[in-house]
Order: sequence, then structure tokens, then C-alpha cells
Amino acid sequence: MLEDTSFAIHPGQQKQNGQDGYKAIGPIVSYKKEGNLFNGTTENGELAIAFKREDIVHIEMNPFGKATLPKSPAIIVSEKDIDFKIDESNHSITLSTGALTVVIQKDPLLINILDGKGEVLVQESKSGMAYKETREVICYKEMEENDHFYGFGEKTGFLDKRGEKMVMWNSDVYAPHNPETDSLYESIPFFTTLRDGKAFGIFFDNTFKTTFDLRSETDRYSFGSEGGTINYYVFAGPTMKNVLEQYTYVTGRSPIPPKWSIGYHQSRYSYESEQEVRELVKLFKEKNIPIDVVHLDIHYMEGYRVFTFDKNRFPNPKQLIQDLKEQGIHVVPIVDPGVKEDSEYPIYQEGVRNDLFCKYIEGNIYFGEVWPGNSAFPDFTSENVRKWWGEKHEFYTDLGIEGIWNDMNEPAVFNETKTMDLKVIHDNDGNPKSHRELHNIYGLLMGKSTYEGMKDQLSGKRPFLLTRAGYSGVQRYAAVWTGDNRSFWEHLQMAIPMVMNLGVSGVPFAGPDVGGFAHDSNGELLARWTQVGALTPFFRNHSALGFVRQEPWSFGEKYEEVVRKYIQLRYQWLPQLYTLFKEASQSGLPVMRPLVMEYPNDENTVNLYDQFMIGDNVIVAPIVKPTDEYRVVYLPEGTWYDFWTGEVLEGGKRHLIHAPLDKLPIYVLAGTAIAQGNVRMSTEEKEATRTVHLYYSNNSEYTFTMYEDDGSTFAFENGEYLDMAFTITQKDGSIQMTSERSGSFKPEWESFHLVLHGAQEHVKIEFDGVLLEEQEKGKYSLKM
Ligand code: GLC
Repeated sequence: MLEDTSFAIHPGQQKQNGQDGYKAIGPIVSYKKEGNLFNGTTENGELAIAFKREDIVHIEMNPFGKATLPKSPAIIVSEKDIDFKIDESNHSITLSTGALTVVIQKDPLLINILDGKGEVLVQESKSGMAYKETREVICYKEMEENDHFYGFGEKTGFLDKRGEKMVMWNSDVYAPHNPETDSLYESIPFFTTLRDGKAFGIFFDNTFKTTFDLRSETDRYSFGSEGGTINYYVFAGPTMKNVLEQYTYVTGRSPIPPKWSIGYHQSRYSYESEQEVRELVKLFKEKNIPIDVVHLDIHYMEGYRVFTFDKNRFPNPKQLIQDLKEQGIHVVPIVDPGVKEDSEYPIYQEGVRNDLFCKYIEGNIYFGEVWPGNSAFPDFTSENVRKWWGEKHEFYTDLGIEGIWNDMNEPAVFNETKTMDLKVIHDNDGNPKSHRELHNIYGLLMGKSTYEGMKDQLSGKRPFLLTRAGYSGVQRYAAVWTGDNRSFWEHLQMAIPMVMNLGVSGVPFAGPDVGGFAHDSNGELLARWTQVGALTPFFRNHSALGFVRQEPWSFGEKYEEVVRKYIQLRYQWLPQLYTLFKEASQSGLPVMRPLVMEYPNDENTVNLYDQFMIGDNVIVAPIVKPTDEYRVVYLPEGTWYDFWTGEVLEGGKRHLIHAPLDKLPIYVLAGTAIAQGNVRMSTEEKEATRTVHLYYSNNSEYTFTMYEDDGSTFAFENGEYLDMAFTITQKDGSIQMTSERSGSFKPEWESFHLVLHGAQEHVKIEFDGVLLEEQEKGKYSLKM
């Protein structure tokens, strides 16, 4: 292709300046406040503003018609808006709630947003909002010198997105994910700005192709779209954590996953037969490597027809699934949206007969080429279709399957545009719209259909869903993996900021293909990647056909040893991770987070992309370069303990760390605690011992929480959980702990211990007013 040669930079190819041909929406000519809604008319359009909460405002500027504050399927917050105060001066109209103030400058129309203290958060830049008759819309905001930007979902590159230009258009990108690869599988048009340690957020809820330009100018940025309106939310912050709570209040939070889904997953494109799967599992058991999930990629199906099993390769799937379950292993099959065009195939027949596929306006079905060949695509924008598809999953649940892997749901199609014809008209529950407008939500709605269908059929058990494509709100249904990466060290490096940015975009359950999907992996890369995977929220080793195998034992004893150690470590850390997943379900906070979220005033953290935190007190600093055994680790203020050796490191500075192949550097903040369980071969095995590790400090106070439930049902919604909050005060060599418990769940542990790390001498520990007896050095027994 000519675009792949120097022709791409031919002088004649230069595009026009992006701002040409844009027209301003014009000054305010009139306005009214009706109930809790502000409506304004401008010279060339309309403006509407409502407050979802004191700290959340929804704004729409529409140059083409009525401003109605539209809501995409990302939004779950109710219709009810709250009241606000309105004032007018000669030049402006001011709306305020106490936590937010919106100042509407009348001419030229500019909308500025201030926090409760009157400090400017969002300031519109000179041309404010503008549009083209061809329906493009854009708006410009000032960018301060110290602004840093986080979020934007699944993007390549580093942590801070200042200086990037990003397009949201769900895309199947098998070609390498480069720093310049822009659109990937997920579109999350939401970001947080951090300015001098304080944060606020913006969510541009527009499902068309949108562009965020933080690159072209140094003092302002823009976001815009090729259709729709400037329809956005501003979240007041003032911390990054507050912004996430606010954003996920509007778009929803991730449900507590079934415990098995946060164990180790093994995948391959593909394990092609029942026998291969059984042998795989046998090897895991023989080699003492824990495993909870085996994925079945497209070869399990009959000619890639979804809702089928190939009779020759998998003669008795029910038996296989049951046998594996007895060994503590769940099977997760892949389900793509493309339904093979085959008049003898029941799913295709039902889809055609009941009018369930995506169609052109003329009424003919859209067909596209995917794995099964020519295929039709369910129209997930219709409730009717979502219900049908969801119910079809009975095929899987009847076999004992509790988890599904949705792929190719951008939707991907093997053609030049990589997707469905943009002219397709979706039903959209009776409000027909083009694929051009709804493309970015196709995967989200497939996820909704699958998750809800599975939930209905699992009789009270929690389903697990993994998805490749999505839009804001995807966290309500699915975990996200970052698609077709490669076995490159660069992709291991990139996975870290990618998963962190997904986390600060409201998606806590995410992870890359460990070891790399395409290209040939190698022992050292797999070992280092498994170390990272052991503590990323989603942990799956997956690789593509045609490349070397990368199961834990594929590269010899030396590497197998390391991989085993870190998969085992994952199981030790599950109690800690599970509590963080529960927190994510309530507050939207990510399990794996950038240091800047916990240390926003520390300049050293703003673009720190090769270290991450688990919760608020653990720093992980993996080695992500070949042959390297040393790296620089930045530890923020405080005292930190090496998780492995107990060595004390002072924070507020960088350390040169030695990390030979079998060491993943992990640091725990003094004064805090973590929960650990015993190594198990799968989460179905009993957790016999629970230990709280407490890290000594001579002056600290910390609230440590630990959450438990049955790990598999929704009984926690009826009080069957155990939430323990320990307040730990350490002062002058003595420790006071008080506990508060709620919920009626009785955990299965036979022993419950406290281990104190780092104290030089005997330390008195009082637990709920009773002195704890030291059993052996630093080890105390706790009562449930
Ligand atoms: C896509 C997926 C990959 C999968 C393959 C075959 O490339 O991203 O994970 O293995 O399709 O289904």
C-alpha cells in the first residue's frame, strides 16, 4: 500500500488545518431555568445544563437542534437532577451548587467551571465551542503549564497523556501496538486533569468517533467529534479518587468478580481438542502450578459457529467441564458476534426469521467476513436482540460454564475499514441510528447482553465476562484484556501504563496477554511478564497459533521455576486483591493504580509508568528489560519495607535495586498492613490460613480493611459477607489495634494470624483492648 511508503509524506498529502471551516455557536440570546434544568438559546444553537450531584455537572451544546442532555448506554445515573442557584450579571450567567459553579459568559459564549472555592477548573479557550455544517463539533479548553492528563481508557504510550492526540474508535489492531497506534479496542472518552495536586475530570459522552487533541497546541486542548453534540460531564474532584468515584457514579462500577476469575488463567489460540485440554490440566497439577481457568479459543466450535462444540474435537464437553470443575478449574469459551451465514444453522435461522441481525436501511442484512466466513451480526442495540442472545447462553450454562470471553466485538470485520459498513442502520430500541454513530457501543451492548443472560441462567452464581471491545460503562459487565499485543519487551513495558490508565478510566479488572500474544516469546520475557501478571488485576497467559508455545514450562526448568513461584504468589495475594476488588465495586477505585493517585503532590510520580501500586500501600517495580537485574525504584515519602527481605528503605528518593530473575521488587509502606492467604492449587481449594502482615513504624495510624464472602454467589447482597476494618495505631514501640466487623459470613480459615515485620524488639500489641500473646518471634494468633 502506498501509505506504507514515503508517499505518505508526499507534499500533496498534507491535510488542512483542523480548525478551518469551523463556526462558533454564537452568543447567548435568551435562557430559562425550568425546574432543575438550565436551557439557553445561542445565535446558532442551544445549550442545556443540569447537575447530577453537587459535584457533577452535565452540559450539552448543540448547534443543530434542541439541547436535551442525551445519555448514551454508558450512563446509569437516574433522570433526577438537583437544584442549583442562578445569578445573572451584564456579561454572564452563573449556576452554582456549592461544590461547582458554572459561569456562562454571554458574548462570546464561553463556559467556565469553578470549584466550590472559586478556583477555575475548566476554562474555555477563545473559540469555545464550534461546529461545521458537515456536523463536526469541537470545543477548546485552556491547558495550564502544570496540567497532567490521565485516563482515556486503553491507549498505548506512557502514563501522562499530555502531548498526545487520541482518537476513540473501537478498532481491531493486530498489527503491532506502537506508541503511535491510536485507536484500539476500547473507547473511553473520559480523563482526569491533575493540576498542582488537585484533580477534576471530564467525560465526553459522544458515541461517534471522537478526538482528544492534547498535542497540537501548548496552552489549550480540544475534544471533538465527527457527529453528535458537545455533550459532557465535569467532575469536581478535588482528588483523583474523588473524580473516579464521581465518574463511576454516572457510568457504574465493576461488580465483585467470582473468586475463580481472579486466579490464574491459561489460554492459547487454541487448545484444539478435549485431549489437549486434559493433558494441559494434568501438567499444571503435576508441576504444582496453580490454575483456575482454561480458555477455549475458536477451535472448540464447529466451523467457528458460536453456540456449538465440534463433535470430533470435543466429543463430550459436559463431561470435560465437569471433570475440570472437580479439579477446581473453570472453562471459559470464546464467543464472537459474527454468526455464520448458513441456512441450516439454527442460530442463523433464528436471527433471520426474527429479524435480529444488523441491516441496511433498505432491509437487507449486513454480511461481513470473520472467522466463520460470511457472517451476520446481531443488532445488540435492540433490547429484543440482547435478550435473545443472552438466553442463547443457556447452551453454555447447561454445560456447566460460568464465564464467557467476548472477542471481535468492535465489531471486527476482515475488510479495508476493519469494521461494519457505517451505513448500517441499527434498531437502537426504536430510535434508528447509523453504525457510524453507534459503532463504539456495539461491544458494550454485546457485553451487557452476555453478562445479563449469563446472570439470569446461573441461578445466583456470579458470571465472569472478558471482553475486548467496550465503551465507558464496560466495567459494569466485563473484565478487559488489552488485545493482541506481542512478545516484545516494549509491550511488557507498555502494558503497565495501559492497565493503570484503564484503572483510572473506571475499569479495574484489566490485564494484558501475559507473555505476549503474537510473535515468539522466550523464557526470560515470560518470567518477567508473569511477575507483573501476578499482581495485575486480570492474569492470563495467552498466545497465538503459529508462534512458540508459552505455557509455564515451555522454556525449561530455570524459567518454569520462576513462573511457578509467581503464579503461586498470586494465590498468596488473593485476599488482598479480593478486598480491593470489593472496594472497586463500591468506589470505582482501581486495584492496580499509578503512584500519582496516592501521591498527587509528588512531582516524581506524575509520569511514573514503570511502577505501580496495589491499593494504597504497596509498590511494585518490575524489571521490564532483557538481561537486566538492576533498576531504579522511586519510593515516595515514608518508610518502605522490601516484601521479600524486610529490608527498610527510606522514601522520598530513588534506590538502585538488585532484582535477579526470580525477584519481583515489592515494597510495603511502614505502618500499614496486607492480607495474605496460603498457596493453593486453585481458588476452589480451601484457604486454611489467613495472615495479616503488619509493618512496624514508630508513629503511624492506618485503617486496614479485609473483605470476605463466599466468592461465588450474590449472597453478599443479603448480608452474607465479612467486612473487617482494623484501626492500627503504632506509637513509641506499642501497637493498638481495634476492629470493627460487619456481615454474617463465617470464613473457612482454620487459623488467623498476625505477623509483625520490622520491629527490632518485642512489641506489645493490644487487640480490641486485649494483649496479644506472641507465639513465636513476631507472630501472634488472632481470634475470629
Ligand atoms: C483475536 C483475539 C485473540 C484470539 C484470536 C482468535 O485476535 O484478540 O485473543 O486468540 O482472535 O480467536
